[in-house]
Amino acid sequence: MSQKRLQFTTKLGVIATTVGSAVGLGNIWRFPYEAGEGGGGAFIVVYLLVIALIGIPVICAEFVLGRSSRRNIFGAFRHFSPKGKWHYVGYVGILASIMILSFYSVVAGWTMEYIYQSVSGGLDYGTAASFQGQFDEFSHGNWRPLMWTVAFLLCNLLILRRGVQKGVEKMSNIMMPILFVLLVVFCVNSLMMDKAGEGLQFLFNPDFSKVTPQVVIGAMGQAFFSLSIGLGTMMTYASYFSKKTDLRLSATITAVLDTFVAILAAVIIFPAVFSFGESPAQGPALVFEILPAIFSQLPGSAVWSVLFFVLLFIASLTSTISMSEVSIAFLIDEKKMSREKATWLNTGIAIFFGALCALSFGCLGDVKIFGLTIFGLFDYVTSNILLPVGGFFISLYAGWVLDKRIFNRELADGRRSFFAWLMRFCLRWVAPAAILIIFLSQIGVL
Ligand code: PFF
Repeated sequence: MSQKRLQFTTKLGVIATTVGSAVGLGNIWRFPYEAGEGGGGAFIVVYLLVIALIGIPVICAEFVLGRSSRRNIFGAFRHFSPKGKWHYVGYVGILASIMILSFYSVVAGWTMEYIYQSVSGGLDYGTAASFQGQFDEFSHGNWRPLMWTVAFLLCNLLILRRGVQKGVEKMSNIMMPILFVLLVVFCVNSLMMDKAGEGLQFLFNPDFSKVTPQVVIGAMGQAFFSLSIGLGTMMTYASYFSKKTDLRLSATITAVLDTFVAILAAVIIFPAVFSFGESPAQGPALVFEILPAIFSQLPGSAVWSVLFFVLLFIASLTSTISMSEVSIAFLIDEKKMSREKATWLNTGIAIFFGALCALSFGCLGDVKIFGLTIFGLFDYVTSNILLPVGGFFISLYAGWVLDKRIFNRELADGRRSFFAWLMRFCLRWVAPAAILIIFLSQIGVL
């Protein structure tokens, strides 16, 4: 099996696909709303710490485990520890990947509605308040969100059926650079708004009295979600890397670019939030109310808006493809299913749960579990619980169980390397301890 495995073809292809997985709605939709709810600057400081101390080491661990075993998350653990129970971590990853795919597709479906609205002129000349009304009306109506969720999952299916290499690599190569340029343009535009200073103050002047266990766990969850780690996505992708791929470089570039895009998105959103007199803590709707209002002030608003939502749609696709690959690679490698069958099964399950998530803004709005809607529950449980749990065990495994020589060979060609030492140190001590402490303080033990 290992010889036949597909490989990404170029260096750029590797970076573009891992960045393509990392950059998506997590950066542009979720980061601003989490930062807004977490009090801005304080949230961002914690977030950056988590990226550096836990995020980058865990990406490295996933890369090492994936490339050296050439297997999916479940198979990788079984390969190195056939007798242990480590492969159960694979089940956590697979569960997380299906749950994320379900609610993520709902939001990706919203981007499709917004592309449609921009083309048909429905997003022109509104204020943030009127877009708020428009978003509420759309998301509460049951059929349209449901239809777009299914439509998005079918787009995802079409690309997945063709295999990872052809579809994802090509699309990411073209799309990522255009998205960066567009974000920079919008960023400059936002910085020229009259209350830009207030927005920047909110983002970059941390008020540490706002750091509660809830904020810390939110920032940690966001970091895991944004870097696509803790569930085996980066492990599965690394199983397609060639021996020549520089894992250190790929891990660092992925984390840096991903963080850069998230910060850019926040710098686009918050100056506008304050200039329009809106509240930063509006939850999941935030970006879908503020962005159209920004676009409608620009000359040629519909063009900007179509371009942006099309790119966001593609960025979402490159992310959902990567998370789907976790369960598809598992079904193909371990359950010997055909790619066609595995892809349909993955899509079918996601359509079912995605429909529940989509309707939880409408007719299922009253269904509350632990005080959260179905959508809210999927979002919270995956980012704040399942991914950090996965990350905890991946760190422990790579730091304590995996042969040190394999770790060094993959990260530094077997040579002495400060980077490899530092990563292993973080995986042994810092990441597991930090995740544990954050969990314990969340449940009130510490
Ligand atoms: N990192 C993606 C984003 O920020 O949009 C979301 C994601 C992709 C999460 C892949 C998990 C995953 F496996």
